[in-house]
Amino acid sequence: MNSRSAQFRRDGFLVLEGFNTTEACDALMQRGQELAADFDFNGHASVFQTSEQSKTADDYFLDSGDKISFFFEKDAFDNSGKLKGDLFHSLNKIGHALHDLDPVFDAFSRSRQMKALAADLELNDWLIIQSMLIFKHARIGGVVDVHQDSTFLFTEPDSCIGFWFALEDAYKENGCLWAKPGGHQCRLHARFQRKAGGGTEMIHLINEAYDTEGMIPLEVKKGTCIVLHGLLPHYSLPNSSRKSRQAYAIHTIDKKTVYPGTNWLQRDMKKLRGF
Ligand code: FE2
Repeated sequence: MNSRSAQFRRDGFLVLEGFNTTEACDALMQRGQELAADFDFNGHASVFQTSEQSKTADDYFLDSGDKISFFFEKDAFDNSGKLKGDLFHSLNKIGHALHDLDPVFDAFSRSRQMKALAADLELNDWLIIQSMLIFKHARIGGVVDVHQDSTFLFTEPDSCIGFWFALEDAYKENGCLWAKPGGHQCRLHARFQRKAGGGTEMIHLINEAYDTEGMIPLEVKKGTCIVLHGLLPHYSLPNSSRKSRQAYAIHTIDKKTVYPGTNWLQRDMKKLRGF
């Protein structure tokens, strides 16, 4: 076993500094800004200006698997449903098929160094199922509660592995990731599923809170790649700083596993590709 692979298996995550160039990070952020500028917000306004539990918002979210869709920060709207700030700085993320639909995101997700890393981690049979450009804008970027990525991308047996790319420096004040070395040595806590009658639900598999003791901030420089085991509990705090913390994340699954139709994210599985 090579050293990257051994470290990943031991810790449940891997921090690879200097993985992407500054230019590649800037180009990806630039492309995100262009996509946001082309987003027809007014054509979708009814989706976002209603309560989070509304059927249209649920449908927009559940239909986003094979698309490039836009999601807002919880605090982006005022009581009358109007955006408080400009559109770009109100966005939480863009997802979930950027890597398959946009050439710039495709190239970033399947770079030469990604192919080499996938080979090192023996992920030759893995498929990229999901991608997200996460803005975490200054002041407004919200908390991401402790979770395991396998909760959202459940496979039998478990296989989810995430790749989180810092497009800007990430540190405590602007909401870097937190995790505990070896934290992945635990069971899956929950599954996030489609409900039979529409909408989604969290199914709790064990009656235990996450153990956050020993979690450390993963403060990293722009260009760093963090590999995350699907069972590794992790979280990020709100961005309380004046600098954004943009990151791009892709999630992968082993194509030999079973991907249930009850998972919230549904893709045309025949179209999925690896690195
Ligand atoms: Fe996550």
